[in-house]
Amino acid sequence: MPRPRVLSGVQPTGALHLGNWLGAIRNWVELQDTHDTYVCVVDLHAITVPHDPSQLAADTRSTAALYLACGMDPKRCSIFIQSQVAAHSELCWLLNCVTPLNWLERMIQFKEKSVKQGDNVSVGLLDYPVLMAADILLYDADLVPVGEDQKQHLELARDIAQQRINARFGSKENPVLNVPKPLILKEGARVMSLTDGRSKMSKSDPNEGSRITLLDPPELITKKIKRAKTDPERGLEFGNPDRPETDNLLGLYAILSGQGRDSVATQCADMGWGQFKPLLAEAAVAALEPIQGRYKELIDHPEELDLVLEQGRQKAEAVANATLNRVRQALGFASRT
Ligand code: TYM
Repeated sequence: MPRPRVLSGVQPTGALHLGNWLGAIRNWVELQDTHDTYVCVVDLHAITVPHDPSQLAADTRSTAALYLACGMDPKRCSIFIQSQVAAHSELCWLLNCVTPLNWLERMIQFKEKSVKQGDNVSVGLLDYPVLMAADILLYDADLVPVGEDQKQHLELARDIAQQRINARFGSKENPVLNVPKPLILKEGARVMSLTDGRSKMSKSDPNEGSRITLLDPPELITKKIKRAKTDPERGLEFGNPDRPETDNLLGLYAILSGQGRDSVATQCADMGWGQFKPLLAEAAVAALEPIQGRYKELIDHPEELDLVLEQGRQKAEAVANATLNRVRQALGFASRT
């Protein structure tokens, strides 16, 4: 039996933060032992909002280096850059032509992001979820490990595969595309902002104090946690809807300290913020220290990363081209010789 397939990715837009790690990358690391795992840096998605061309390549490599630093092992998975496998753009076009416009217009992330862009909203931003569907469907992915915010995009990918491709161009016995499932773990699936417990930690928040990035030095991590929003109550607890910041910070402590939710809930039940915040800062610094050390080695020796990305590209391309040909055939295109 072939191992089930996993595909996921992160956009190289600015520094990766705790949400990207705990909501997504941390889960990939577990899956690579049991699944045929493909992870890409989705640089084509990064240009759906205005971007800086002088930064794109460096950010793309830095994101790939962070995958490795977080524990992705090129011997057990394939790591590649999305734009270097041309099949992503081509399948996106084919899927565009069968995806109803109104499916895209109701995407929550599009609505939120397009408000910020005003008159400058690009067709690419609207089309973002179709490109994401292409990323996933090209690899016949069974599972897509992502944070909670990507659930709607995953549902769209499933609907495109099932209703728009398989139902129209395949048969029950011979589906054209594999229909993927999201994998959203409970813990870490929605890491919230340090400055507002009701909005998620995000790369695009103009306030840098709202997030801890994976490359923040220890002093900065400590400073951001010290300034993180709290409430006047003493004692930390999970699940109180009036105390979203408390829930978030305690949840981060549970994961970063490795102690788990039950243990930290007991430990911190009567604790004041003055005692808790240094503990959380210490746990965050300790958890990020090995990642930062490995990242520095990788960035200092670019040959290793180049090799990993080239090998990843070759493996990815072989799988992606086979699927693309299957779709081209199902849609009736003249075959390539
Ligand atoms: P991006 O770069 O916005 O996010 C990358 C991953 O991080 C997760 N994430 C979070 N998880 C928990 N708490 C948070 N505050 C938080 N913020 C982000 C996201 O859910 C995601 O898993 N559209 C994707 C990129 C993509 C993709 C794909 C993913 C493009 N093609 C194919 C999977 C498969 C995205 O959100 O990127």
